[in-house]
Amino acid sequence: MAEITRVGVIGAGQMGNGIAQVFAMKGVHVVMLDVNQEALGKGIGTIQKSLSKLVEKGKLEPHAMATSIAMITPTTDYALLKDRELVIEAATENLELKRKIFQQIDAAAPEGAILASNTSSISITTLAAGTKRPSKFIGMHFMNPVPLMQLVEVIRGLDTDDATYNAIMALATRLGKTPVACNDFPGFVSNRILLPMINEAIYALMEGVADAQSIDQIMKLGMNHPMGPLSLADLIGLDTCLAIMQVLHRDLGDSKYRPCPLLKKYVDAGHLGRKTGRGFYKYD
Ligand code: CAA
Repeated sequence: MAEITRVGVIGAGQMGNGIAQVFAMKGVHVVMLDVNQEALGKGIGTIQKSLSKLVEKGKLEPHAMATSIAMITPTTDYALLKDRELVIEAATENLELKRKIFQQIDAAAPEGAILASNTSSISITTLAAGTKRPSKFIGMHFMNPVPLMQLVEVIRGLDTDDATYNAIMALATRLGKTPVACNDFPGFVSNRILLPMINEAIYALMEGVADAQSIDQIMKLGMNHPMGPLSLADLIGLDTCLAIMQVLHRDLGDSKYRPCPLLKKYVDAGHLGRKTGRGFYKYD
């Protein structure tokens, strides 16, 4: 398969704008789609800040900032997907929403285009079955913050063909990332292991084993984790953490994956972490 040079990214939120940015920095043209101009404006603003930071740190040439931004076409119109070779969905972690989005992508993108989801836990096989091209469907799971993280978890659905798998492994490598493959199972590998740890940290907080700072410090200094589990939950988004735990709990059917009631309480209160200014910590 020829090198992929035109992609679509659905969603301009924290994952979508990060994915659009890493493609643009490698000279891949991106159509970045969201439901309104406000969401698109916020996404472009985040990309601009991230690129400035990379320039500041000497990781990006100053002139590359403008050329990267110029590689991104923000839009609300699915018709712009008509010439894309790959479309990656990075919407909210909700099966029904993703299904509807994939119906629109499937109708708009060319027949031969690969469809990918950046889902953190929803079944790739289930999402693929809702399209007309399950053999060209794959999971391409980037980590947050996308411009800084090395891993892309590549998930093969039941019907993903070898050409699709090989094209995505090659593309992730071209982005400067390290793709690692796994099979389609709830939470894949990353969130099957990460989220129960975060959930357990929230139980420790709820039960008064220690306060949030102490839990995070113990895990940071004691295990050499770059961030404590509660700060990391705030970075991922508490709504996303809850959605992943619900998938693990429901689809693996084991009570050890039950979401902590304190996590649910924070989500019910609208305290979703960094993105709302408050989670287990407060942010400016
Ligand atoms: N673009 C550019 N710069 C960014 C950035 C971005 N998107 N995000 C953060 N930065 C900058 C910060 O502003 C900060 O700058 P200053 O130093 O000027 O304040 C800098 O990066 C951080 O630099 P550090 O030298 O302090 O970097 P670090 O070594 O602390 O790394 C980190 C930061 C990469 C976020 C690190 O703390 C880390 O690895 N944390 C864990 C992240 C993680 O586990 N991610 C996976 C989440 S799970 C997931 O994504 C999957 C899922 O489905 C839920």
